[in-house]
Amino acid sequence: MRAIHTFALALGLVCAATGVQARDWAAVKQSGTLIAASEGAYPPFNYFQGSRLTGYEIDVMEAVAKKLGLKLEWRALAFDALIASIRQDRFDVAIASHGYTEERAKSVDFTTPHYCSGGQIVAKAGGPLKATELTGKTLGVQLATTYAEAAKKVSGAKEVKTYPKDTDALQALLGGRVDAWITDRFVAKNALAKNSAEGIKGGDMVFVERVSMIHRKGNNELHEQLNKGLAAIKADGTLKAISEKYFQEDISCTN
Ligand code: ARG
Repeated sequence: MRAIHTFALALGLVCAATGVQARDWAAVKQSGTLIAASEGAYPPFNYFQGSRLTGYEIDVMEAVAKKLGLKLEWRALAFDALIASIRQDRFDVAIASHGYTEERAKSVDFTTPHYCSGGQIVAKAGGPLKATELTGKTLGVQLATTYAEAAKKVSGAKEVKTYPKDTDALQALLGGRVDAWITDRFVAKNALAKNSAEGIKGGDMVFVERVSMIHRKGNNELHEQLNKGLAAIKADGTLKAISEKYFQEDISCTN
């Protein structure tokens, strides 16, 4: 008895020290607050405006939480730390443009997608804009993304440079340190509009993907609730309105 008590106490201390929150739906609901994580360096999906997280995905998460009757608390983490942190139960859900891959699905669960998109080549005028032109070129991509995977598969590319943030990969393109950048097509659309003086252009799409919130594997009730919230903001037009605010078009999945 004494030993069990001591063990429980020790476990409690470890959890407090590491901020571990293995929370199922009942615990989330009871607390009244959903703890969500994002990156904050992926405009216009998730980025910082001063000290405030904003963007399409931040608005989507806020709207979903509202439908579920929950307050929202944000955490910002490096993109390549998000999946590992879910496995350590550091927050309830992440919304940071994770495309579904079988590899990722081994360690986290994906909700219904909030948008459908894909990877696109971006280069300066005269640079490689077609997939077939990437041979012998240096490519810039964000670490741990599906773009990095796609870049590694380009046969004959000279080098793939990975950056901690997607915005660093854009800067590398603008600074001439890479010949092409592979990123999301809506990130590209935004970057082209914001850097119109730089003469960068959008080229071929290299793959398509469905993008979802991710959460701890087997957290099934939370999963159902997140999907329910998402379905509700789809049904009442909120998702479309958020999409049009950031992209001037509806980027939600049609199938
Ligand atoms: N959609 C890509 C992927 O699934 C990139 C996501 C990058 N997200 C971010 N917050 N930087 O890997």
